[in-house]
Amino acid sequence: MNWDDLFTPPWRGEANTDIAEVMRLSEMEGVISFAGGFPAADMFRLPEVREVADRVLVEKGAQALQYGPTAGFAALREYLAQRMLHRFGVKTGPEEIVITTGALQGLDLLCRVLIEPGDTVITEAPSYMGALQTFATHRARIEEVPIDEAGLQVDLLAERLAELKERGIRPKLIYTIPTFQNPSGTTLNASRRRLLVDLANAYGVPLVEDAAYAELRFAGSEEPALKAVDGTGGVIFLGTFSKILSPGLRLGWVVAPRALAEKLIAVKQTNDQCSGSLSQLVALECGRRGIIDRQIEASRVLLKEKAAAMVAGIEKHFPAGTRWVDPQGGFFTWVTLPAVDGLDTSRLLKQAVAEEKVAYVGGRSFYAHGRGANQLRLCFSYPGRAEIAAGIERLGRFFRKHLEKAELVPQG
Ligand SMILES: Cc1ncc(COP(=O)(O)O)c(C=O)c1O
Repeated sequence: MNWDDLFTPPWRGEANTDIAEVMRLSEMEGVISFAGGFPAADMFRLPEVREVADRVLVEKGAQALQYGPTAGFAALREYLAQRMLHRFGVKTGPEEIVITTGALQGLDLLCRVLIEPGDTVITEAPSYMGALQTFATHRARIEEVPIDEAGLQVDLLAERLAELKERGIRPKLIYTIPTFQNPSGTTLNASRRRLLVDLANAYGVPLVEDAAYAELRFAGSEEPALKAVDGTGGVIFLGTFSKILSPGLRLGWVVAPRALAEKLIAVKQTNDQCSGSLSQLVALECGRRGIIDRQIEASRVLLKEKAAAMVAGIEKHFPAGTRWVDPQGGFFTWVTLPAVDGLDTSRLLKQAVAEEKVAYVGGRSFYAHGRGANQLRLCFSYPGRAEIAAGIERLGRFFRKHLEKAELVPQG
């Protein structure tokens, strides 16, 4: 069978296996991994979750092992509606909430109902590689707008929207991670939030707010959710339990205007029918008992210490001229090495693993159009503090060595 004749266009030729590679590296024996955006094992509240799971199986066993409603259990949607108000200042109701199998499924479902091949999607540059791959799978044309230390450069977005309009193009959506962005760790400031929402509304483009890390602040002051700033229903909110409870539950949620939520439910029916019933009941009970909130509080403390250890290590060990983001929350920092001829962090990853037993994600994975060769994402959440200190020292040595060599290469 010649499979290549049968594959649809996004799947012809070499498959993009960046995410699978990150997963593989993160599990390799003896390697200190700054690659996967995982919570650390000691963030999980295993004894409490075990008790909850046990109680769910005793009291609601038949429901937990059965299919559930496609939109998710009403009680969980009700709980999330209240959580959206208390945590994010967003007024919503269960009819606007769809439970998904992770936030990534939420994004995929949105693409299924909104994106046709050739449609334009606007992303931050850099952006979350899972989202970029999802847009590519739906054959969207990705327009990148750069970020700086205060998040998406909204003035550049305004220019881009105007240019696109002149060419008769109305983007289908703007995808943003406004708080503790993946990969950069940056946060959109308050004035830009207002401008962004107004701009999206003025051009009639839905704004997808991915809030995966938004509750994990350990420094600075809260910024409002875009969905709370918006009064028109133009913001679609993506939430996930992955970073605040457990990615193993595979549970997220979408908050969308009712007309859109109904479409998402219809398309989810053909996708996985429903998210796991056991997971939903466990997540709900963990929420009600305050386990999620306690986990968030404890995670903030751990993340703060780990981020500080990582930033101090970068400052000490990385090559002169390196720039990095000092994050106020979330899982990541973003490093920009001096640009020298031939430097490609993605290509160097295998060598870093082989020579120094340390892993990261190369910058090119986070751009749709091939930038980021001198950048890398480092996750400080997953490794322990001692591993951070040792791993950053090794990585600093690796890049110093590499840059010294690279400078000997004649430019051009
Ligand atoms: C910004 C962002 N959005 C979404 C996701 C996907 O999360 P989930 O596990 O809920 O699918 C991730 C996971 O790393 C992420 O970093």
